[in-house]
Amino acid sequence: MADTYSDLVNSTVGKQVASRLGLPRPVRLRRYAPDQPLVPGPVVVAGVGDAPLAARAADLLRGDAIDIIPVVAEGQRVGAVVLDLTQARELTDLDAFRTILGPALKRLAPSGRVVVFGGSIATAGTDPMLRATRRAMEGVVRSIGKELRAGATANLVTVVEGEEANADAALRFFLSGRSAYVDGQVVTVGAASGGPAAAPDDWHTPLVGKVAVVTGAARGIGASIAEVLARDGATVVGVDIPSAGEGLARNANRLGGTALQLDVTAPDAGRRIVDHARKRHGSLDIMVHNAGITRDKLLANMDESRWASVVDVNLGSVIRMNEAILAADGIADGGHVVCVSSIAGIAGNRGQTNYAASKAGVIGLVTALGGSPDLYARRVTVNAVAPGFIETEMTAKIPLATRELGRRLSSLQQGGLPLDVAETVAWLSQDANSGVTGNVVRVCGQSLLGA
Ligand SMILES: NC(=O)c1ccc[n+]([C@@H]2O[C@H](COP(=O)([O-])OP(=O)(O)OC[C@H]3O[C@@H](n4cnc5c(N)ncnc54)[C@H](O)[C@@H]3O)[C@@H](O)[C@H]2O)c1
Repeated sequence: MADTYSDLVNSTVGKQVASRLGLPRPVRLRRYAPDQPLVPGPVVVAGVGDAPLAARAADLLRGDAIDIIPVVAEGQRVGAVVLDLTQARELTDLDAFRTILGPALKRLAPSGRVVVFGGSIATAGTDPMLRATRRAMEGVVRSIGKELRAGATANLVTVVEGEEANADAALRFFLSGRSAYVDGQVVTVGAASGGPAAAPDDWHTPLVGKVAVVTGAARGIGASIAEVLARDGATVVGVDIPSAGEGLARNANRLGGTALQLDVTAPDAGRRIVDHARKRHGSLDIMVHNAGITRDKLLANMDESRWASVVDVNLGSVIRMNEAILAADGIADGGHVVCVSSIAGIAGNRGQTNYAASKAGVIGLVTALGGSPDLYARRVTVNAVAPGFIETEMTAKIPLATRELGRRLSSLQQGGLPLDVAETVAWLSQDANSGVTGNVVRVCGQSLLGA
C-alpha cells in the first residue's frame, strides 16, 4: 500500500518543509535491477591482519568491474565499505572501526553499504578476550546501522575459519539492492558438507533448474516470493487454500509454474506437496513456508479457536509438513528450506501472544533443523526470515497512528516491501549460500521494535 508521508516529504516542496521542521525523510531505497551494478561507486576494502576475506572481496568486486580503493580520497563518494575483521583477536583490533570505517562513512553514497566480516562466535571457544572481541563487533555494527542515513545499511557476516569460500553469496547479497531493507543483521557462514559452495553460472539467475514450493502464494509476501524465485530462474509451485484459488492460479500461470490448492494444516499436506513437485516438475529443491494468519486478542480475552488456529497454521503445520518434506524421498539433497517468522516472534507484541508463540516457535524449529547432522550431511539448509513492518493487506488494517509508528521506528524510517522479504528468501535459497543454515535474518529496516 502507499506510504503517503514518504511520498510527501520526498516531493520538491515537502523536502524543504521536512528539513526545516526536522521531520524524518525516508529516502527511496536502492533495490535490485539486473542492469545495475552490484554497488554504485568504488568500494573501500580493508582489514586487519591477513584479512583473507578482504582479498576475496577485492577479487569478487574486480570480477564485476567495480573499483577497489584502500582509503577514501577527499571529495570522493563510495558505494560501500567492506571491512575484514576476521583476524581481530583483541579489543585494540577494534580500533579499525574508528580509523578505517569512520572516515569512509562520511563519504558513503545514498543506499550505500557497510559489510563487516568477523570471526564466528561459535568457534571462539572459551577464550574471554577473543569471544568478547568478536561479540563487540555486533554492538558496533548494529550501532552503525542506526547512525547511517539516506538508505545506507550495515551488516555483520561472521565466518568460520577456513570457510571463507562460502561467504561470496552473503557478500553479494549485502552489497546489492537485494538487501535494501536488511539492516543491522548478523549472519553466520559455516561449512557446507562435501566442500565449498559452488558459484552459479550467472549470479542474476542463481536458481535455474530448481523447483520451488511457496505456501500462501496467492497474495502478499508469498506472491512476491513466488515472483522473485521465478525471476531468479526457479520453476515455482504456488500453494494456497481453495478459497484463494483464483489469485493463486493467476500468479502460477503468469510465472509459468503450477498451482496446488491445499490447506497447509491438512494431515497429508507435506506428502501432497512432495508428490506434486516431484510428479509435475521432477524434483523439490526449495521449500518456503510462508502461509500465515493473525487472530489478535489480548491474552485475557483469547479464546481457544484463535489460539489454536494461529499456532497450527503458522507452526504446527510446518512441523508436520516437514516430516514428509525432509524425508529422504522429499526435498532433494542440497535443497533449501526457508520459513517466514516475524519480529513479533523476537520482541513480542501486544495482542499477539498466539502469533508471537508461533513465530518464536518457527525460530526454535529452524535452529533445531539447522543443527541437524542428517540434514547437514545431505547439504540441506534451513533458515528463517523475520519480517518487520511490511506494506501488505495485513499491515494496511493496522490503525493509522500505530501504522505510522511501525513505519518510522526503524533505521530506514519506512516500511519494507513484500519484495524485500522475497529477495532475502531467494538469497537463502541459493546453493552458493550452502554454508548458511540455522540463521534467522530480520527484514525489518532495523526496526526498533524487536531490536
Ligand atoms: N505483512 C507483514 O508485515 C508481516 C510481518 C511479519 C511476518 N509476516 C508473515 O509473512 C507471511 C505472509 O504474510 P502476508 O502479510 O503476505 O499475509 P497475507 O494474509 O496477505 O497472505 C497470507 C497467505 O497465506 C494463505 N494462507 C492462510 N492460511 C493458509 C492455510 N491454512 N493453508 C494455505 N494457505 C494459507 C492466505 O490465503 C494468503 O494467501 C505470514 O507468515 C506472516 O505471518 C508478515
